[in-house]
Amino acid sequence: MRELSGKVAVVTGAGSGIGRALALRFAAEGMTLMLADVDHGALAETAAQAGDAEVLTQITDVSDASSVRHLANRCFGELRAVHVLCNNAGVFQGGHLWTRGEQDLAWLLGVNLWGVLHGIREFVPRMIEQDTEGHIVNTVSVAGLSTTPGAGGYSVGKYAALAASQALAHDLADAGSKLRVTALCPGAVRTRMADSARLRPPGLATVPGPDEVAAQEAVSRAAERGIEPSEVAGLVVEAIRDERFLLLTDPEHAARLRLQTETLLSGRLPLHH
Ligand SMILES: NC(=O)c1ccc[n+]([C@@H]2O[C@H](COP(=O)([O-])OP(=O)(O)OC[C@H]3O[C@@H](n4cnc5c(N)ncnc54)[C@H](O)[C@@H]3O)[C@@H](O)[C@H]2O)c1
Repeated sequence: MRELSGKVAVVTGAGSGIGRALALRFAAEGMTLMLADVDHGALAETAAQAGDAEVLTQITDVSDASSVRHLANRCFGELRAVHVLCNNAGVFQGGHLWTRGEQDLAWLLGVNLWGVLHGIREFVPRMIEQDTEGHIVNTVSVAGLSTTPGAGGYSVGKYAALAASQALAHDLADAGSKLRVTALCPGAVRTRMADSARLRPPGLATVPGPDEVAAQEAVSRAAERGIEPSEVAGLVVEAIRDERFLLLTDPEHAARLRLQTETLLSGRLPLHH
């Protein structure tokens, strides 16, 4: 889709980080926005920064099918169309896989995987019916392409979100659809993701063990050295215009992944340094 001006974009997780940057970039492109997040104050702050753009906001928990359905109903009811859907909301929690409780994994997979699946199920049929050009951007991660110690739960969700993106792109092509898909796989980005515990529903919180704390600190350090969310948003707009499926934010990641795949295909476990 070359022309974005005058079209409608939906962004989940729009209250912070990459989602906020996407919202502001789409606003600058002249798009109408529907912004969604669980965090009311953060969402209002993004809307306030969006300048003259037409902006609607909706408190949405992407892990909840009915909440995403309500978001889609408002989009197609009040804005009459959706041209760009960004299933972006996500959370991080680290720790060895064997220390993750069922509720830890349910929260991670609920937001990072089911959030994407609910977005696909609630929006894509109506985007197909609309019969215009359109683009779905799923925020995955390099953690959806390779695993690192201490981030197993996160990677499980992100690998699955990448599989969902790829399968969606295949199915849309098979159906002769005009919709395109991008799987956004950033490396470290300067956002609040390391502080995802702030968003954990009350009652699900557990006292973090040393493995979880160490992983969270590592993500926090990486984020400090990461790229700016606005840079990611610029790459996403290019990927939409160029119909690019896999979007890495750093060419170094491609070289590392190639090496890791070769190691994997030789039957050995790719190690991280
Ligand atoms: N920051 C990084 O280094 C990095 C790297 C790769 C991928 N990602 C991915 O980028 C996406 C955005 O994260 P970010 O880095 O901007 O983090 P962030 O914490 O700054 O922003 C995430 C936003 O998602 C919202 N959110 C969380 N749970 C939600 C839910 N259940 N429903 C709706 N909204 C919810 C939060 O309130 C927040 O506004 C995530 O999918 C994350 O996994 C981030």
